[in-house]
Amino acid sequence: MRHEVDFLVVGSGIAGLSFALKVAPYGKVCVLTKGDAAEGSTRYAQGGIAAVMYDSDSFDKHIHDTLVAGDGICDREVVEMTIREAPDRIRELVQYGVNFDRDGGGDKFDLHREGGHSEFRILHHKDNTGEEIERGLLEAARRHPNIEIKERQFAIDIITQHHLGQRVTKHTPGIECYGVYALDCDTNRIDTYLAKVTLLATGGMGNVYSTTTTPVISTGDGVAMVHRARGVLSDLEFMQFHPTSLYNPAEKPAFLITEAMRGAGAILKDRDGKEFMQKYDSRLSLAPRDIVARAIDNEMKLSGKDYLYLDARGIGKKHLIEGFPTIYAKCLSIGIDITREMIPIRPAAHYQCGGIKVDKNGESSIKNLYAAGECSCTGLHGGNRLASNSLLEAVVYAHNAAKSAIALVKSGKWKVKSEVPDWDAEGMVLNEEMVLITQTKRELQEIMWNYVGIVRSDLRLQRAFDRLNLIFRETEDLYNRSVLTEPLSELRNLIACAYLIIKMARARRENVGLHYSLDLVK
Ligand code: FAD
Ligand code: SIN
Repeated sequence: MRHEVDFLVVGSGIAGLSFALKVAPYGKVCVLTKGDAAEGSTRYAQGGIAAVMYDSDSFDKHIHDTLVAGDGICDREVVEMTIREAPDRIRELVQYGVNFDRDGGGDKFDLHREGGHSEFRILHHKDNTGEEIERGLLEAARRHPNIEIKERQFAIDIITQHHLGQRVTKHTPGIECYGVYALDCDTNRIDTYLAKVTLLATGGMGNVYSTTTTPVISTGDGVAMVHRARGVLSDLEFMQFHPTSLYNPAEKPAFLITEAMRGAGAILKDRDGKEFMQKYDSRLSLAPRDIVARAIDNEMKLSGKDYLYLDARGIGKKHLIEGFPTIYAKCLSIGIDITREMIPIRPAAHYQCGGIKVDKNGESSIKNLYAAGECSCTGLHGGNRLASNSLLEAVVYAHNAAKSAIALVKSGKWKVKSEVPDWDAEGMVLNEEMVLITQTKRELQEIMWNYVGIVRSDLRLQRAFDRLNLIFRETEDLYNRSVLTEPLSELRNLIACAYLIIKMARARRENVGLHYSLDLVK
C-alpha cells in the first residue's frame, strides 16, 4: 500500500511528537511508531529536564556545566543555543498540558539537582517525569486533526535514489530522502510512505548491551537506516552508562534509580557499607556520570562483586516516599524498603550521545531528512551528556527542525516522489528459526558488554570486532533468504550499531568523556 503525506515522522517519543505538533498546522502529518505509541525511553525518564528558569541560576552556569561534562569536545555554539532556548521550550511543554511539580504547590517550579550540575535546575514530575511528558504530548497529538499516529508500523529503510536504481555511495553528492518503507507488524505487509519531509526520532540503542535501562524498542533503527542509506553518523563511541540501575538480574530493562536521589543526598557505598567516591573525584557521588560509572566498575572489579550500594536512608522517610514514589514502590515490590535498607545498584547502558549527524536545524547529511532526540548527534553532549540535557535537546531540536521543515514545505520546491517503486519481497521464504535471532542477539549483547563497555582496550575492541564479523555474516545470510520480520530487522540494526560503536571507538585515540581505554592516555 502507498501513503503520501507532507511530513513523515518515525517515532512517537518526546522528539517525534514535539515535531509533529509544530508542523501539524502546515500539512498532513503521519507518525509511525513500531510499538504502542507511548512506548519508548521518554516514558521511563525519571529525573527530569534541565533548564534555567530563575535568576538564582544563570545560562552561563548551565553552559559551563554542560561543557565540563562533555569533557571539552561539545560544540560550544550548540550548547549556548540549546541552553538559551530551554525556558521557551519548557513553557511550550506546559502549554501542551505537561505538569511539572511546583514548589509547595505555588507558582514556582520545584527544582532538583543531579550529577555535574552546579545548581538545582531540573524540572520534574515526582520521579516519573517522562511518563507525564509522554502523556501530555500524546494527548495533544491525538487531539490534532492533521496528525495520524500509526502504531505497530516498523520503518525498515529510508527511501533514496538507491531505490530508483542509482548507485549511491557515501561520496554521492546530494543523497535525497523520499520517505520510508515500513512493515505493518500485524499483517506483515510492507508499505511505502512518501513524504516531502521525513524526521527520524527513533530513540537510542541501549539494547546493543546486555544490561540497559532502555526499553526493548531502543535498537538503533534510525542510526542503522541512515548508515545503510550512506548518511553521516558521529560520536557513537560515547555510550553513556548510568551508574545506578537497580540490581535485579532477571529484570529487563534494568530499572533506573534516578540521579536526583544522589542530588537529594543519597551516597554510593561499597559492599561493606563504606563510601568510596573520595578515591575518585572531589564531587563524590555527584561527579559526572562517566566518572561515577567508571569508579563503580573499578570497585566492582577490585572486589569481584556484581553490585554495590546506594544509601538513600539519610534523605528521610517522608521525602523518600513523597519525592520518589515510583522508586520506593518498585524497591518495596522486590523486598527492599529504601527508608531502612541500602539499594543494590550496578551500571547499565543508558544513553547514546552519538547518532545521526545534524546541523543546528536538525538536518542530516541526506536532503529532506531530519533527525531529533536520542538518535541524533547535535554536538550538545560532546564526550558525555550532562544529566537531564537529553529531553531538553529533543524539544529544542524538534523545534528547530520543525521551523526548517515548514519553510521547505512552504517553498513548494519539493514534491512527493511518486515514481518510487514498492518494496520487492519476491523470492523470500518464511523464516521459522526464531531461535537463531534470539540467540544471536544475546551473543551480540554479551560481546558488547564484555569488550566494548565502560572500560575498553585495543585487544577487547579487536576481539569484539572479530566476533561481530561472524555474527554479521550469519545474519545477512539469514536476511537474504527470509521474509522480513521485526525481530530480524532489529537484529540487523543492532549489529550495524555495534559495528559502528566499535569502529568509532577504535578510531578515537585518546581517552575522552565516556570513551576510556586501558591502552590510551588522557
Ligand atoms: P524515544 O522516547 O525512545 O522514542 C523512540 C520512538 O521511536 C518510539 O516511539 C519507538 O517506537 C519509535 N521507533 C524506533 N524505531 C522505530 C522504527 N524502526 N519504526 C517505527 N518506530 C520506531 N533524559 C533526560 O533528559 N532526563 C531524564 O530524567 C532521563 N531519564 C531517563 C531514564 C531512563 C530509564 C532512560 C532509559 C532514559 C532517560 N533519559 C533521560 C534519556 C531520555 O529519556 C531519552 O534520551 C529520550 O526520551 C529519547 O526521546 P526520543 O524521542 O528521542 O526517543
Ligand atoms: C536520571 O534520572 O538519573 C536520569 C537522568 C538522565 O538520564 O538524564
